[in-house]
Amino acid sequence: MDAMPAQHPDARTREAAATIPVYGQLPFVPEYAEGCDIVTADGRRILDLYGGHAVAALGYGHPRLVAAIREQSETLLFQSNAVALDVRASAAEKLVSVAPTTLDRVFFVNSGAEANENALRMAISVTQRRKVLAITHGFHGRTAAAGAVTWKSDKWYGFPQKPFDVDFIPRNDCAAAETMIGPDIAAVIVEPVQGVAGAFDLSADFLQALRSATRQHDALLIADEVQSGMGRCGDYFAVQGYGIEPDLMTSAKSLGGGVPCGAVLCRADIAGHFGPGDLGTTFGGGPLAAAAIGAVIDTIRDENLLANVRAQEARIRERCITGPVTRIQGKGLLLGLVCSRPALDVRNALLEQDILTGTSADPHVVRILAPLVINDEHVDHLAHALAAIPGAGA
Ligand SMILES: Cc1ncc(COP(=O)(O)O)c(C=O)c1O
Repeated sequence: MDAMPAQHPDARTREAAATIPVYGQLPFVPEYAEGCDIVTADGRRILDLYGGHAVAALGYGHPRLVAAIREQSETLLFQSNAVALDVRASAAEKLVSVAPTTLDRVFFVNSGAEANENALRMAISVTQRRKVLAITHGFHGRTAAAGAVTWKSDKWYGFPQKPFDVDFIPRNDCAAAETMIGPDIAAVIVEPVQGVAGAFDLSADFLQALRSATRQHDALLIADEVQSGMGRCGDYFAVQGYGIEPDLMTSAKSLGGGVPCGAVLCRADIAGHFGPGDLGTTFGGGPLAAAAIGAVIDTIRDENLLANVRAQEARIRERCITGPVTRIQGKGLLLGLVCSRPALDVRNALLEQDILTGTSADPHVVRILAPLVINDEHVDHLAHALAAIPGAGA
């Protein structure tokens, strides 16, 4: 028998040796997670206010989500879109029932980038135009089309050219929106609350300007709700809080509560442009993902989580402007704590106090992407921990 190695290298060391090292990783290894806590291999209990990049909408181990996944995996783990499935039909019906009213068709995919890739392809195909406008500081994913509309993607985009013409409207510049959106534009893609940018909530006037100019020129408005959707901003989708009806909308992240999935939603007349073979994906709308989507939507409704998101947002705004935090931006539980010190220092200081938050593209913004199920105590814990961190010049 081989002798046991003298030391068991931890998962970080083994990952570093066996995967492509493209991720900066946090200095702990989760053993398991429950509720809003991650418990580490060395026994730390960390309050997770970041949710694995906004995925863990129901926290960890939510009984309803766990039961849905378990039952579905025992019944039918997978079948493709070559067959109709009750569980997929239910997920589509439920998703449409909580979406903006004019969006009544769904195409299921596997990720946020894949959802945006398809929404852009659909918009270009429907309008027969070749130029797309996006918004400065926006993030839409790392595939060819999604990367092409992501602000400052040049440093990692990696393809020799973009698949269509792209230009960026300066965020919140209504006059620029009106000038730039014309009869040559296929679509405008926008995150109503820009997540990676630091939970930056765009102005209602700007979103309204995008909506009316796209309508005027028969361009399509795509709302990227990959990060802002599924309850995170206090409505099922952030556009609903702004009173905007997009032509297409994408969802992922929280959609499956942790099971990988994504969706493109659109109006029936847009869906009518597509027939067999025009769009496709092997895993999209698979039964496991569909069961998870159904359970997440049911739970948000039955546990009144939209009201909880709004209440916890109000509590964070009331209690967390303390220590290094000078201002709070964003909506619901997609919040940016604007700090007087570098966000990375604040993120690290919070982690030393066993609270996990995130950074963002803005070096002074700490991002909160908490599970929708957080409670008063969690927020008070955050407020207390922030108060213990000195602000700049303190
Ligand atoms: C707004 C937005 N769109 C798209 C994406 C890409 O999603 P995915 O990583 O699932 O491809 C992200 C990921 O952070 C995002 O925040």
